[in-house]
Amino acid sequence: MHSSLHPLQIGKHIARYPIMQAAMAVRVSGAKLAGAVANAGGVGMIATLGIGLDSPYFNPRQKSSFFTANRLALIDELAKARSISPDGVIGVNILVGTKDYPELAKTAAAEGANLIVTGGAVALNLPEYTADYPDVALVPTVANADSAQYLCQTWKSRYNRLPDALILENCQKVGGHFTQCEQINVPGFSIGWVISQVREYLTETMGVRIPLIVTGELAIAPILIKC
Ligand SMILES: Cc1cc2nc3c(=O)[nH]c(=O)nc-3n(C[C@H](O)[C@H](O)[C@H](O)COP(=O)(O)O)c2cc1C
Repeated sequence: MHSSLHPLQIGKHIARYPIMQAAMAVRVSGAKLAGAVANAGGVGMIATLGIGLDSPYFNPRQKSSFFTANRLALIDELAKARSISPDGVIGVNILVGTKDYPELAKTAAAEGANLIVTGGAVALNLPEYTADYPDVALVPTVANADSAQYLCQTWKSRYNRLPDALILENCQKVGGHFTQCEQINVPGFSIGWVISQVREYLTETMGVRIPLIVTGELAIAPILIKC
């Protein structure tokens, strides 16, 4: 089939189409959806929030099993997604504010995720958790240029690493989890303004061209804008 859509390269991983499936928590975005999207040429995403809840590892009478269940269920879901799509691009979405975020990031990297997307807050420590897996692409979510700059500067100085792509959350429209949205009432604020500020910062100050993936209002098919 002829397509006018360009491939999407994030770090070392290349999807046939510039489409990243939205992460939807509590097992909406599990292995089957992620594997099918990856097989179809997009980036399939497994959402980790509440992933262990209806797994055999969670015992509702023993609340402490929640975090262990999340980790074990993530291992299972990644293996299932990979069996559905042996060569596709499969990512894992983790919310930064959750208690088991570091453990889930380490597990995702160790168990073969191609990329990790974070949401909910600025992921300042993410490279620390994946240091042993340099091929795992890191894709944090930010909602404005200040956050993008803060994150890039922190990663560069602490880890000598930059994100492999950024997700720009259109906080005027997004229906999911906000990463941060203080500028929403600033006159002239728009996602287009954020895109051009972040693009300029990345190319002129950091000297990199990475994909900017915009989310919000488009639900399951965030659009990609190349730097
Ligand atoms: C049911 C549901 C669950 C979601 N869970 C997550 C999640 O776990 N992590 C995350 O980063 N975003 C989550 N989102 C946000 C989506 O991934 C996506 O970014 C958002 O839906 C895009 O905004 P839009 O729906 O306004 O287009 C969720 C969205 C929905 C509808």
